[in-house]
Amino acid sequence: MQNSRLGAIIALCMALTVLLFVFAACADDPPPPAPREIAATPTPAAGAAAQATPPPTVGVAHSVGISMPTHYLPRWSRDGENLEFRLQGMGMDVNLQFADDSVVTQIAQIQSMIDANVDVLIIVAIEGDSLTEVLEGAEAAGIPVISYDRLIMNSSAVTYYATFDNWMVGEMQGQFIADTLDLANQAGPFYIEFFTGDPGDNNINFFFPGAMSILQPFLDDGTLVSVSGQTDIMEVATVGWSADLAQARMTSLIESHNFTPNGQRLDAVLASNDSTAQGVTNALIAAGFTPENIPVITGQDCDLTSVRNMLAGYQAMSVFKDTRTLAENVVEMVLDLRDGRTVSINNTTDYDNGTGLIPTNLSVPVVVTIDNYREILINSGYYTEDQIIHG
Ligand code: BGC
Repeated sequence: MQNSRLGAIIALCMALTVLLFVFAACADDPPPPAPREIAATPTPAAGAAAQATPPPTVGVAHSVGISMPTHYLPRWSRDGENLEFRLQGMGMDVNLQFADDSVVTQIAQIQSMIDANVDVLIIVAIEGDSLTEVLEGAEAAGIPVISYDRLIMNSSAVTYYATFDNWMVGEMQGQFIADTLDLANQAGPFYIEFFTGDPGDNNINFFFPGAMSILQPFLDDGTLVSVSGQTDIMEVATVGWSADLAQARMTSLIESHNFTPNGQRLDAVLASNDSTAQGVTNALIAAGFTPENIPVITGQDCDLTSVRNMLAGYQAMSVFKDTRTLAENVVEMVLDLRDGRTVSINNTTDYDNGTGLIPTNLSVPVVVTIDNYREILINSGYYTEDQIIHG
């Protein structure tokens, strides 16, 4: 009796093993190229195949490694903890690591997740180009890699990309400046300076040209003028998206060109995100600017400090990327991968990481100003009023 039950269990395990290998073989097919909502074939988790266990069902533990760039910027601590919370809520084991903006640390952390044979990796790359080698290990082990927010470049291990439309983020910032200064109807000149983010972050290649697609025509016809002449992406990049470095560069621009309330006029500063916007704001306040005469400063992320700066009249706008939406999409991707369902994506044409187009799920960003912050940030439950006031 015992023996026949044991025999049945062994036979069932063998059958499931065969099924999993068949599944694994099918999964090597590349995703079919279709414009929207493709039935991308998931790569099964290496752990599942190796252990020959039945395909897991919802609620069964499954391990996910999350590699975040740093916990110093609120953006990433919030995203990391939010993802961890949601995945744990789905019964998954989560290994969340922050790399303190050190590429070497990030590579070591990812390697240890691969060694631990996690079933899925979710990665925000510090530098788009630095993970090629370590991810060869993930690919060899059949571990799907979800590139989160930033596209990991030059790695065929990247299975999916989930992000906001980062070109649109830049366009929104550029358009905000164009509308606020009414560039289309005024002769100008209006004076502008530019700040973008880390030179290694692939996202700046969307934010900055996206903004320039709106502003360059006005620079070309003289309606906008950059007194420093620094309009090239690498000249205006800010290592590590550091607020301190942005402040130091803005201070040096102020000193070289006498941007003060009574000196050389400065009408706008394009800052690609909130940390750089905060550095710019601090430098301008130190130079004597007040809410009445401070240039139009853009941002992104709706960090609490920037929301407070908006309410105080220093920062004009921020682009909100609701990280709850991004996390939800990625949790869905993980569940779909785990359960062998079609992964939901909506862009197969725009995100080529150097090894081919990466199936992508794009979310839509929103412009936030003092006019709509209550509706978008508070009524939606993203922040409480108290958090905004007291931090
Ligand atoms: C993200 C921004 C963030 C910046 C600095 C970018 O890759 O898309 O939301 O502000 O990194 O962390």
